[in-house]
Amino acid sequence: MCPLDRIGQNMQEELRQLERRAKEELRAVKDLAALEQFRIKYLGKKGLLTSFMKRLGSLSPEERPQVGKLANSVKQGLTSLFSETKKKLQEEEESARRSLVDITLPGRRPLRGHLHPITLIATRVCEIFKNMGFRIAKGPDVELDYYNFEALNIPKDHPARDMQDTFYISERVVLRTHTSPIQIRVMESQRPPVAIIAPGKVYRRDSDVSHTPMFHQVEGLLVDRGVSFSDLKGTLISFVHQMFGPETGVRFRPSFFPFTEPSAEVDIRCVICEGKGCRTCSETGWLEILGAGMVDPAVFGFVDYDPEQYSGFAFGMGIERIAMLKYGIDDIQLFYRNDMRFLRQFE
Ligand code: PHE
Repeated sequence: MCPLDRIGQNMQEELRQLERRAKEELRAVKDLAALEQFRIKYLGKKGLLTSFMKRLGSLSPEERPQVGKLANSVKQGLTSLFSETKKKLQEEEESARRSLVDITLPGRRPLRGHLHPITLIATRVCEIFKNMGFRIAKGPDVELDYYNFEALNIPKDHPARDMQDTFYISERVVLRTHTSPIQIRVMESQRPPVAIIAPGKVYRRDSDVSHTPMFHQVEGLLVDRGVSFSDLKGTLISFVHQMFGPETGVRFRPSFFPFTEPSAEVDIRCVICEGKGCRTCSETGWLEILGAGMVDPAVFGFVDYDPEQYSGFAFGMGIERIAMLKYGIDDIQLFYRNDMRFLRQFE
């Protein structure tokens, strides 16, 4: 082997070592500053690889192309490894910067939930009656025509059964239009004395500033021996005074419901104008808050209670209406828009 050959061999060996060391160092690089040091050391103008290239001139014309070719490929390989590493490190540093947290800033308080105004009022209404000895009862929203109408003495041709008002699921099944079917379910399942209060959603095909297709009612029912209209009056007057204040005026107006006889609607003195007359009470000074009456003997017939032994009263009130009067709200739709500016006021 001629001496020049050996020089060429040595330089190839040297190049491979250089490449090995460079790759090792590059693997150890953890940030952009260290990467720049690496670049200067190997690829810079005075770097190891560049200096090596300059020495190629000392090789024989036969060896130069071979070693030169190897040197170029090592340089290319290192250069592209260098740019890959650079890209990776830049991305890492960028995402680290973005996730920097300033722990001296005040924390973001998680929003604390609270009950919806309708829930608050329904709960309060039930509480008042529970304190008088009524217990909570429940019934299904999807109700049989029988419970919603038939057993409440609402005959087939009654206007309340008109398609206009009722959501029908099928011929026999409806979305309950009031909470009164719960009266029937309770009386079917127990003998007197009965004293229940039943909150729930009800559904009617209706929608404007004072109507929503779904709204809430609370139903009350009391059946025992010797229950009279004055028990009804006393109970409801006590309720009004607890709900709206002991000075609130109450009046009972004759009315009609197929399932009570006699029937009444109960008004309270207008909470806005205190009886002087305003838009809210249509200048009458009174606001209607519920329907009530003595359970019709015909209804007792459907649940097998003897009307000769037992009598009872029932009432039903709209929760949205009570909430509107209590809080001075003039648009029922506000309850269902989920506007936080509105809801926050009931925390
Ligand atoms: N269910 C009646 C309504 O929705 C209210 C009512 C209940 C009236 C109980 C009398 C007795 O209008």
